[in-house]
Amino acid sequence: MILVTGGAGFIGSNFVLDWLAQGHEPIVNLDKLTYAGNRANLAALQGDARHVFVQGDIGDRALVARLLAEHQPRAVLNFAAESHVDRSIHGAGEFIATNIVGTFQLLEAVRAHWGTLPAERQADFRFLHVSTDEVYGSLAPDAPAFTEQHGYEPNSPYSASKAASDHLVRAWHHTHGLPVLTTNCSNNYGPYHFPEKLIPLMIVNALAGKPLPVYGDGQQVRDWLYVGDHCSAIRRVLQAGRPGETYNVGGWNEKPNLEIVHTVCRLLDELRPRADGQPYATQITTVPDRPGHDRRYAIDARKIERELGWRPAETFDTGIRKTVQWYLDHPDWVAQVQSGAYRDWVATQYGAAAAA
Ligand code: NAD
Ligand code: TYD
Repeated sequence: MILVTGGAGFIGSNFVLDWLAQGHEPIVNLDKLTYAGNRANLAALQGDARHVFVQGDIGDRALVARLLAEHQPRAVLNFAAESHVDRSIHGAGEFIATNIVGTFQLLEAVRAHWGTLPAERQADFRFLHVSTDEVYGSLAPDAPAFTEQHGYEPNSPYSASKAASDHLVRAWHHTHGLPVLTTNCSNNYGPYHFPEKLIPLMIVNALAGKPLPVYGDGQQVRDWLYVGDHCSAIRRVLQAGRPGETYNVGGWNEKPNLEIVHTVCRLLDELRPRADGQPYATQITTVPDRPGHDRRYAIDARKIERELGWRPAETFDTGIRKTVQWYLDHPDWVAQVQSGAYRDWVATQYGAAAAA
């Protein structure tokens, strides 16, 4: 058994689905089902006894203690987080509560359980913390990509809260001996990505005939990785990573936002041309920049490749084509996630007209 937190979110649900499809051990999936958690992502596992879903909070130490005692997992993988930078700018409370205090409570519950295990099981146990490249801050255009040695310089409330959680995980290893692993991954994209983030937002807005809102000059650079490749990296780190180490995960795919948006538009022009024959790129609009917007992220993924032999399977071209096709093939999922709460968010961030 393994215990996964946040397994109803974007990356967590991809991880759970891939893990079970590959025939690994059963999973206990602890997820609070915030706006970002969606049981429909896990619909394929309905009736599958290898997947035990528990709605609850990583900050609920008694609940986590009970799950650990009952299921005796060999590992805990922590995906649960508040994850959207723009939401953290509107209000950081939930980010502090889940990403910092929640991770602390989770670590304490795990440490207490781990302390009761016999020596051999203690040595084999792993706590894998899923984190982000955003903890490293922003890079100048010509600066080398982030290595694991790069200093932590988080700039947004989101990245600051993730940085704090990484520090707690590190400290629980150095002080208490908990066998932890941390992964710092670049921007993911793929199926089940909630349409508040750049790529799925552009796909669903394009198809709905709505404006495609590009922040500022659109020249901010992100390093994109297909979600299935992030999941394979996590499996590999869990299997062979050295306790106490951190591993950067990335796809060597640095691209400015505007280029991403044009690529999505071109794929839609090919796969689902607009009824009026116009290109989707005509829907691109510029909107005011994000406060404190990080200019560039780039991951140096040589450590995980050298030490663990991990490499991404998808190129950006293959991954983005699969992703656009997935959204075209899943209109019901797209309709379901665009609930009232989603429309409220769109109105808050992009104005009432965008939510209409
Ligand atoms: P997401 O927002 O799609 O999903 C988060 C999940 O966590 C949801 O299912 C939500 O219900 C759950 N959750 C939130 N608070 C919780 C709590 N207190 N207790 C239990 N469950 C809770 O996020 P994601 O994009 O899937 O990201 C997963 C992890 O990967 C996060 O830790 C994030 O920081 C990290 N990460 C994300 C990216 C990316 O590009 N999306 C890149 C690198 C790292
Ligand atoms: P996002 O998907 O929110 O991920 P992150 O901020 O964690 O990197 O945004 C990716 C990039 O796209 C980021 O530079 C902000 C930009 N962006 C837009 O230009 N317009 C949008 O509507 C959104 C959501 C993001």
